[in-house]
Amino acid sequence: MGLFRGLVSLLVLFLLQRSNTSLVRLNDNGYEDLVIAIDPGVPEDGKLIEQLKDMVTTASTYLFEATQKRLFFKNVSILIPKNWEGSPEYKRPKHESYEQADVRVAAPALPGRDEPYTRQFTECGEKAEYIHFTPDFVLGKKQNEYGPSGRLFVHEWAHLRWGVFDEYNEEKPFYNSTSKKIEATRCSTGITGKNRVYKCQGGSCTENLCKINSTTKLYGKDCQFFPNKVQTEKASIMFMQSIDSVLEFCNAENHNQEAPSLQNIKCNFRSTWEVISNSEDFKNTTPMAAPPPPPVFSLLRISERILCLVLDKSGSMSSSTRLDRMNQAAKYFLLQTVENGSWVGMVHFDSAASVKSELIQIKSDSEKNKLLGSLPTVALGGTSICSGITTAFQVIKKLNPQIDGSEIVLLTDGEDSTTGRCTDAVKQSGAIIHLIALGPDAEKAVIQMNSQVDGIRGLCYHECSKCFYSHCKIYSSSKYSIQ
Ligand SMILES: *[C@@H]1O[C@H](CO)[C@@H](O)[C@H](O)[C@H]1NC(C)=O
Ligand SMILES: *[C@@H]1O[C@H](CO)[C@@H](O)[C@H](O)[C@H]1NC(C)=O
Ligand SMILES: *[C@@H]1O[C@H](CO)[C@@H](O)[C@H](O)[C@H]1NC(C)=O
Ligand SMILES: *[C@@H]1O[C@H](CO)[C@@H](O)[C@H](O)[C@H]1NC(C)=O
Repeated sequence: MGLFRGLVSLLVLFLLQRSNTSLVRLNDNGYEDLVIAIDPGVPEDGKLIEQLKDMVTTASTYLFEATQKRLFFKNVSILIPKNWEGSPEYKRPKHESYEQADVRVAAPALPGRDEPYTRQFTECGEKAEYIHFTPDFVLGKKQNEYGPSGRLFVHEWAHLRWGVFDEYNEEKPFYNSTSKKIEATRCSTGITGKNRVYKCQGGSCTENLCKINSTTKLYGKDCQFFPNKVQTEKASIMFMQSIDSVLEFCNAENHNQEAPSLQNIKCNFRSTWEVISNSEDFKNTTPMAAPPPPPVFSLLRISERILCLVLDKSGSMSSSTRLDRMNQAAKYFLLQTVENGSWVGMVHFDSAASVKSELIQIKSDSEKNKLLGSLPTVALGGTSICSGITTAFQVIKKLNPQIDGSEIVLLTDGEDSTTGRCTDAVKQSGAIIHLIALGPDAEKAVIQMNSQVDGIRGLCYHECSKCFYSHCKIYSSSKYSIQ
């Protein structure tokens, strides 16, 4: 029995965790559900939101041209921290969280270090973790250093999404070419410029020719490549997208295989375009005839979780100590997993439902104990899961009239053939249902609900002494990847 209890509790924990993998999916040439999260440490500034919208909108057009009219940003959520002022325009996040955001806007680790970057510890062609921008960068205060933010976003997106690398290399900025010339590490070599030592002291700057180091036979560390202002070369975005003429990735025609660029080192001398055009995104798309629509933005503000426990106390719950196990899981949830500040309510149901607790905010053990005192003690009557869900909606509505983004933890043995009646209501509500089904009909219940509704995360839990965790099939909606 201890094993069973442990397992049910584990399932509760498992379900309530928010996903930390990206939600981005490609649908008809457009990236959907990109998440940009603003860190709670960033001071409130509405201009940041406007600048993020501008950045993604200009990036979308640039990306579309750079991918030969294939890919663009279709819709994006901007996650606003809890400590920023609310607005009727803001909705509650549903699946989106800071942990799984594709882009994070946060203060630099060291003041003044505003260089945008992508956390990329993966191999060539693999997706990276996330893109990091500082508030000053987003606000356009660093444009002199990094150029237009939309173009830069496409450069970082290529790191994140397709696993390509920079075509420069700060460790090896120059190399000795086969034409016996010292060249700046770059792609393509069509980018013209000069190599100079640029020094500023006491308000005046000097420009000098670079000197060759006798050991390395290359220019010293103080030498830099300065591209000319006027260029005609179109490649490459992974070298320097801020140059006006640069509109493309390096491809077979202009790829510089000699340079010790990070791209050449990590991708075995394959060009960025070769890697990108072999990605899943490209295999699944064809060029579009018309230009894409501008991206659509959703503003989501993080707020305290609103959650209603919906507990089955029907007659069939009396068999095999199901009621006891359900209560154990609910107890585990209340004592171990619910975050301080969350709003929690409770509904019981058999053939009808009743509110056992309106939403109360968890601040200490006293609220938890109050809820624990309301767990069902007797199992009796029929089963109407839909009554339980619709009553939970009533409870939630008192605090969140839109329901959207609120959660229901539904514990049941699933011995109900009428759940189909409320799947539309669930779908429209935008609520997230965490379904934990116990008993022999558990699987059926999970399949029935899950196959119809996006936003339901279901787990079933078999009742047999020989079942181990691995025997318990886990179904999840498309947004989650639970193995
Ligand atoms: C993005 O578009 C898809 C398909 O139209 C939709 O299902 C999804 O909810 C949208 N997401 C946002 C954040 O607007
Ligand atoms: C030349 O390069 C070597 C190796 O990088 C370095 O140790 C040395 O200090 C350099 N010499 C000069 C004069 O910069
Ligand atoms: C570059 O390499 C060639 C041999 O490939 C060598 O002859 C030449 O001296 C080198 N030049 C420099 C500046 O190191
Ligand atoms: C929970 O939050 C309340 C305020 O919402 C605070 O007073 C209390 O100290 C917090 N408790 C814990 C354990 O963090």
